[in-house]
Amino acid sequence: MKLLLTGGTGFIGSHTAVVLSQAGHELVLLDNFSNSKQAVLGRLETILGHALPFVQADVRDTAKVTQALQTHGIQAVVHFAGLKAVGESVAQPLNYFANNLQGTLSLLQAMQAAQVHQLVFSSSATVYGEPQYLPLDEQHPTSATNPYGRTKLHIEEMLHDLSASNPAWRIACLRYFNPVGAHDSGLIGEDPNGIPNNLMPFVVQVAAGIRPALQVFGNDYDTPDGTGVRDYIHVMDLAQGHLAALHFLNAQTGWHAINLGTGQGYSVLEMVKAFEAASGKPVAFNIVPRRPGDVASCYAKVDKAQALLNWQASRGLPQMCEDAWRAQQRNMPSTT
Ligand code: NAD
Ligand code: UFG
Repeated sequence: MKLLLTGGTGFIGSHTAVVLSQAGHELVLLDNFSNSKQAVLGRLETILGHALPFVQADVRDTAKVTQALQTHGIQAVVHFAGLKAVGESVAQPLNYFANNLQGTLSLLQAMQAAQVHQLVFSSSATVYGEPQYLPLDEQHPTSATNPYGRTKLHIEEMLHDLSASNPAWRIACLRYFNPVGAHDSGLIGEDPNGIPNNLMPFVVQVAAGIRPALQVFGNDYDTPDGTGVRDYIHVMDLAQGHLAALHFLNAQTGWHAINLGTGQGYSVLEMVKAFEAASGKPVAFNIVPRRPGDVASCYAKVDKAQALLNWQASRGLPQMCEDAWRAQQRNMPSTT
């Protein structure tokens, strides 16, 4: 198929581009480089052995996106583009509404104009809010605890309404749990700007000597060792989930919400230990107070993805850590 990947040079978009291209799809990437670097395109070319067509644009530029869809004969879109930092969204909600809500609205208008009705959307486990039970299945009530989460929830609802308006739409909202790791070449990976918000990139930078110590946000949660438990999923497994979702949508119309996780939770201290083992480097840490808004545990029930997509994660924690470390060592972060 001919696919447009918005946010295609970002962390998850670039890994998904590798998987989709190697599976034989024809890709066009679109990004405004607000949180990624042009150098990713060269790295993708090295991995794939050929360049990928690229459009530098903001998804809010409806005319340019429409033109890209029409010029390239796009049949389906994978929509990664958006802002994703929870704390920043609390400080700058309008920026998040503009980028994520307006951006998606603009994309959908462009898709409608170009008669493209197949969409895979990057949603998040954040739509479940405070877990009422675990593991989280797709029937769990949804709610938002911050503006970022509210954008994901609203977009899912917009997409639901849209699919009800016209049976031509085929939409999958993939609810990602905690993506980590990198492509095994080490050429692409997670390259956050400034101080990382998320655990894994912070741990990587401590092991690399870039930061002195990890702050562990609370050790008094109701979890086996008192630190927060999350469902970390290798980004290449996540990428393969998109391939499976596109295949699924070829045979299904309507709106579908599907968890992409492993079903297995690990604590912050387990992550630190696993990373030390994979890297051979110590990861210094201090216990500090809880981070506002964090929940004790969050992990997925993954049966729906297995049943509908015939997909499940296959890479374990050691590989997630080894691959993240290789990407760091190949100096992926902050090169050009
Ligand atoms: P990322 O920041 O690495 O990638 C997002 C890409 O979108 C970046 O390259 C950025 O430049 C681009 N972008 C942002 N706004 C844009 C706009 N208006 N127009 C064009 N391009 C724009 O983030 P990621 O980790 O790859 O996340 C991809 C998607 O997955 C996001 O929608 C995010 O909310 C969602 N998600 C991520 C996580 C996670 O932990 N990484 C978890 C759940 C959901
Ligand atoms: N943590 C620390 N120290 C840090 C960073 C994180 O102890 O410096 C802890 C957190 O308290 C939490 C765990 O590590 O217990 C994971 O935290 P992350 O920030 O890596 O991930 P979250 O689960 O908080 O959130 C992430 C994304 C959200 C997304 C969610 C579910 O940041 O956007 O996963 O997909 F919604």
